[in-house]
Amino acid sequence: MTQGSVAFDRAVDYYDQTRGFPPGVEQHATQLFVKAGALTPDSQVLEVAVGTGRIALPLAPHVGSITGLDLSLPMLNKLIEKRKDERVQVVQGDGTHLPFKANAFDAAIAVHFFHLIPTWRDALAELRRVLRPGGVLMHGWTSRDMDERLDRVWQGATGRGRGAERGVPFEQRETFLLESGWTEVGTEHVYLFTVERIPQSYVENLRARLWSHTWSMSDEQLNEGIQALETYIRENIADPTAPMQIQSSFHVRAYQPN
Ligand SMILES: C[S@@+](CC[C@H](N)C(=O)[O-])C[C@H]1O[C@@H](n2cnc3c(N)ncnc32)[C@H](O)[C@@H]1O
Repeated sequence: MTQGSVAFDRAVDYYDQTRGFPPGVEQHATQLFVKAGALTPDSQVLEVAVGTGRIALPLAPHVGSITGLDLSLPMLNKLIEKRKDERVQVVQGDGTHLPFKANAFDAAIAVHFFHLIPTWRDALAELRRVLRPGGVLMHGWTSRDMDERLDRVWQGATGRGRGAERGVPFEQRETFLLESGWTEVGTEHVYLFTVERIPQSYVENLRARLWSHTWSMSDEQLNEGIQALETYIRENIADPTAPMQIQSSFHVRAYQPN
């Protein structure tokens, strides 16, 4: 395995429940890739770090084929369990050593991947190799699915943001590809939606270490963050068990290698 990579074996049983799009949103998110990549029913697409197929499965009917690669066999098995007649092939492998020939794909997709691997530059070199001339890499991410205030309290107490941050920091999501010599094609494609979050559940999910950025934290660090959150919630949120509506957005940008 790539040194420092974060395989999601441990998250397989709760990944879709905690990271999935709210009902109805996935089709809109999928259309962003179709538009950004000018995908057609003939397109041969690769998704690196495909996970449980959150993007690949709903995208499959719109393209010729999708190959989904992931380091985690349990995540791929979950994708297979969910797959009906969608044309999604799965391959266990490392995004920094793609087991494909050069020029094999018309388009590639990466969502919530580059922040997880210190060797993300190797992954980019591999994506460049397997894309056909004129092919695009589409980078996608969700921009907000937590209450910003709780997020800030957590970051202040732990020094950690969202994501494991072993690779590209979330703040550099819009610039790292340009700085790595890729050229943006077209404009950003965005879909706005709302998610429901319960402040108390947010704390419980952190306590249960459901998020990858907590996996490498010591118990002490985790407890410091949780205590700070509990204090904030007690003082500022009248009913921490009441659902809150959080405005979120899903973003896709397309790039070509130089
Ligand atoms: C946050 S999940 C994102 C999954 C999917 N892209 C989505 O948006 O739902 C990150 C995925 O990256 C995979 N991963 C981590 N390092 C990897 C690597 N070096 N090569 C391939 N997959 C990797 C993990 O196993 C996990 O399934």
